[in-house]
Amino acid sequence: MALRPLIAPSILSADFARLGEQVSEAEQHGADWLHVDVMDGHFVPPISMGQMVTATFRRSTSLPLDVHLMVQQPEGMLESFAEAGAAHITVHVEAVEQLNKTLQHIKDLGCRAGVSLKPATPVAAIEDALPLADIVLVMSVEPGYGGQAFMPEALPKVRELRQKLDAANPDALIVIDGGIDAETLPAALEASVQVFVAGSSVYGHPDGVAAGIQALRDASLQGQER
Ligand code: DX5
Ligand code: ZN
Repeated sequence: MALRPLIAPSILSADFARLGEQVSEAEQHGADWLHVDVMDGHFVPPISMGQMVTATFRRSTSLPLDVHLMVQQPEGMLESFAEAGAAHITVHVEAVEQLNKTLQHIKDLGCRAGVSLKPATPVAAIEDALPLADIVLVMSVEPGYGGQAFMPEALPKVRELRQKLDAANPDALIVIDGGIDAETLPAALEASVQVFVAGSSVYGHPDGVAAGIQALRDASLQGQER
């Protein structure tokens, strides 16, 4: 049976002065995961948040914390993010030296292991690691900032991944991250994305977080009925 599409609000677009409240709001209004964007100022220019803030989320919500490490050489920080309460840890293939070893380490820590691809990175770069990945996160913007426009070039990559995962690891989830709103979601769903990360369309929705999540949920269900 196909999994219900999952919505993962990205806390990067929240009001940082009210983080706890904004996390609870996402949970109350039906978010499936909470996406936590960790940026180190090297792999991407900004510095966003780290283990200490992740630990405060763990105390504010029971949603799975979906940690997206946009950091160079994440190998040394896997354990501390697992301790901080991450349920999933996703690393960038462009940022690690030994991808398979890193994914196995994440699994050994009791977390789901994810690998992410920047827009210019081909699926071939992670092909050998597909049997080990629980999550493959396809970036549909250049990592670093919320609020950018969706890059449709991500969709052929999603289709290629689905085909390869069907053979190598059918339980792995395909996540898309960047520029997802009610308009862009249906095409991604159609390409077989299962999890939708959304920052500005949830936390920047003019009618609030509940309306932002609902708009995505509606778009995901309409897509399924087609
Ligand atoms: C970008 C981050 C995203 C970002 C998405 O580098 O990985 O998770 O928060 O924000 P939107 O949905 O606004 O593109
Ligand atoms: Zn992200």
